[in-house]
Amino acid sequence: MDQTFDPTFNITPILAGAGAIGLAVGFGAQNLIKDVITVRVSGIAEWENGEHSTMNVEERNYLVLEKFIERYGKKPGGLMRVLQKAQELFGYLSPEVQTYVAEKMCLPVGHVHGVATFYSQFVTAPQGKYVISVCMGTACYVKNAPDILNRFREVLQVEPDETTEDGLFTLRTTRCVGACSMAPLLTVNQAVHGHLEPEDVPRILSRYGGKAGEEVDEVDQELPRPAGDQRPAPPPG
Ligand code: FES
Repeated sequence: MDQTFDPTFNITPILAGAGAIGLAVGFGAQNLIKDVITVRVSGIAEWENGEHSTMNVEERNYLVLEKFIERYGKKPGGLMRVLQKAQELFGYLSPEVQTYVAEKMCLPVGHVHGVATFYSQFVTAPQGKYVISVCMGTACYVKNAPDILNRFREVLQVEPDETTEDGLFTLRTTRCVGACSMAPLLTVNQAVHGHLEPEDVPRILSRYGGKAGEEVDEVDQELPRPAGDQRPAPPPG
């Protein structure tokens, strides 16, 4: 049969059908978007007005941590990320938090505890308002860092990884922080004090509200604060 163009062919039904399909698709998409928005809004409302609004901070932190574990727990390096998040939320990795992580990730508590205590980035006890970290890397060590550490031990009456009774200072040691030209140095939260002598210890403590001493002239350098670091910044100089 010769297939020539038939001028009498009526294209209107085809256009009408296409239009109807388009409308249906559009209407479906519109409904889908509407449903998503409804769920989203109702979810927010539930969070703000429902049971979540009655949660205390700790309960919310656990809920956030649970969601984080669901999302990242099974990915490579998941435990490290989860512990970092837990420390960000709770400030330190208490035995309760370690147990919670172990249960949620189906891991032995001993394994979680081993990781939490192996890496210096994790702390397993409440920290003081100011965390003094004396660098014990090689460059600092050979420039009398141990003497500086001992001076802090004497003045604060605490050992490394302990916190003063008033909760003001936690004394720690750390490995090289990458500023060896300032050796020997220490950090107080994110502030770096370099080129130190043991005699500088009282005035550094005074700078942060510790026992009387001379005023510290200046904070040598401010390091960028890591994500989630909720420790207070040093007071203005
Ligand atoms: S060894 Fe202390 S900053 Fe490098």
